[in-house]
Amino acid sequence: MKKFTCVGDIGELRAAVAEAMEVKRDRFAFTGLGKNRTLLMIFFNSSLRTRLSTQKAAMNLGMNVMVLDVNQGAWKLETERGVVMDGDKAEHLLEAIPVMASYCDVIGVRAFAQLCNKTEDYEERIIEQFIRYSGRPVFSMEAATRHPLQSFADLITIEEYKKKERPKVVLTWAPHPKALPQAVPNSFAEWMNAADYEFVITHPKGYELAPEFVGNARVEYDQRKAFEGADFIYAKNWSAYADPNYGKVLSTDRDWTVDTGKMALTNNAYFMHCLPVRRNMIVTDEVIESPQSLVIREAENREISAQVVLKRILENLK
Ligand code: CP
Repeated sequence: MKKFTCVGDIGELRAAVAEAMEVKRDRFAFTGLGKNRTLLMIFFNSSLRTRLSTQKAAMNLGMNVMVLDVNQGAWKLETERGVVMDGDKAEHLLEAIPVMASYCDVIGVRAFAQLCNKTEDYEERIIEQFIRYSGRPVFSMEAATRHPLQSFADLITIEEYKKKERPKVVLTWAPHPKALPQAVPNSFAEWMNAADYEFVITHPKGYELAPEFVGNARVEYDQRKAFEGADFIYAKNWSAYADPNYGKVLSTDRDWTVDTGKMALTNNAYFMHCLPVRRNMIVTDEVIESPQSLVIREAENREISAQVVLKRILENLK
């Protein structure tokens, strides 16, 4: 594997999940693979799970790990070519990338959508520059439009807990006070479509995701109807994708909060969320603390998804 930014990069999903289970059975079985190899994790945005789980995965494989928080202690980076750099940004990504690449073998990048310009966000300008100019394998630790390590962990979790071959999985929008990117729901939709589950997306009108991510999903604007018979409820907030409201919060309607009444409509569904989660906005205390809540299991599986990706990258290094 040379890069990991989307579901297509992982290949056959059944094989990827089987490999994840193998890693989970003995996460130290491949500890020689990363000897004398260095992972550089570059964060343009905050993280708890991605930072720790990816570092742990790399250590399980015997790698050395360096972490750079671009906005804390590094020079502020200019990302656009052609800009007259007379502002507060002291270094250009075009110099910084090859310099950083010279110190490592593998690069992980977290760079969220700015939510100002849809074209810039959906062109994935930051991670694409790392892929183009680093000469190193690059993997996404959440980019502008996708969060594939999260979605892979979500898939592993569903495969572990599903009670039927083709479960009904519902992605539901839920309220949040701030504008959030579409990366997690886009990515989740991409992976659920690839897994060929019965997949339903529910959200208020105006929150339609990009058609290429919706794929074969059924879109249902009535949240309660969408929940009927569901085996998994995956909650997430996102800001509007469609013009002219790209990146805007159109609603904070708490009638969309996931609560016990709505969960009672499901087939005793498991509750999922990528975390961090705003309690009693996205989901009530009762639901997230219930035995059906898988939020901690998903976070645990982040170590596994990262380890499979790093393992495949290391196996491909010369
Ligand atoms: N789910 C997730 O990516 O968490 P962090 O933002 O804390 O890394």
